[in-house]
Amino acid sequence: MSRNVTVTGIERTFGDNDIIVSKTNLKGHITYANDVFLKIADFTEKEVLGQPHSLIRHPQMPRCVFKLLWQTVEAGQEIFAYVINRTKHGDHYWVYAHVTPSRDRSGRIIGYHSNRRVPDREILENQIIPLYRDLLREETRHGDRKTGMLAGEQMMKDLLAREGVAYDEYIATLGKPHLRASREGQVSLPRDQAIQLEQSTCFQA
Ligand SMILES: Cc1cc2nc3c(=O)[nH]c(=O)nc-3n(C[C@H](O)[C@H](O)[C@H](O)COP(=O)(O)O)c2cc1C
Repeated sequence: MSRNVTVTGIERTFGDNDIIVSKTNLKGHITYANDVFLKIADFTEKEVLGQPHSLIRHPQMPRCVFKLLWQTVEAGQEIFAYVINRTKHGDHYWVYAHVTPSRDRSGRIIGYHSNRRVPDREILENQIIPLYRDLLREETRHGDRKTGMLAGEQMMKDLLAREGVAYDEYIATLGKPHLRASREGQVSLPRDQAIQLEQSTCFQA
């Protein structure tokens, strides 16, 4: 989706107990959206079904985050990410998304599923918004999209290297530094995170 979309700067919010749900096929085209999704995004079901999920892409989202999202779920892993989305009329809403692959009985990936909850406001204001602003600035500084995205990716990798954590741990422990494993010695990640890190070519510390 082009960055030349209308945005109003008006933020929309949803309830602490609400979950915004959507499902996609393997190409990221929407196959299901719950009522909470439709209500906050101002779309009817008919308007979203079959559409690419970038329908609600907000121009303030760094490209490198979506690259990591796709790389992770296509590799069969789950990912958590903070995302700003755009409503039909250009308002925006922040979510904390948990995106997972859906599998058939034989284990084959047949689509993807995202559950989104209200993000922690302090983490958003103090960490995610400034981080995404920097990533976006870096991405848009370059002439073409691909070079820009690679530069954003590098910026994120550098941040993770400085912090001494992988993406998953960084996201999971935002605002909770005491939960972060020390990188002075050996860090043992849960097995699925370690596999994901081995497989991911971006955002590695
Ligand atoms: C299950 C699932 C949920 C997604 N949810 C969102 C979302 O809420 N907002 C969004 O902008 N992109 C979402 N995406 C990513 C989009 O498919 C797309 O990569 C992103 O909007 C960037 O689009 P672009 O490459 O056209 O700029 C989701 C992808 C999947 C697989």
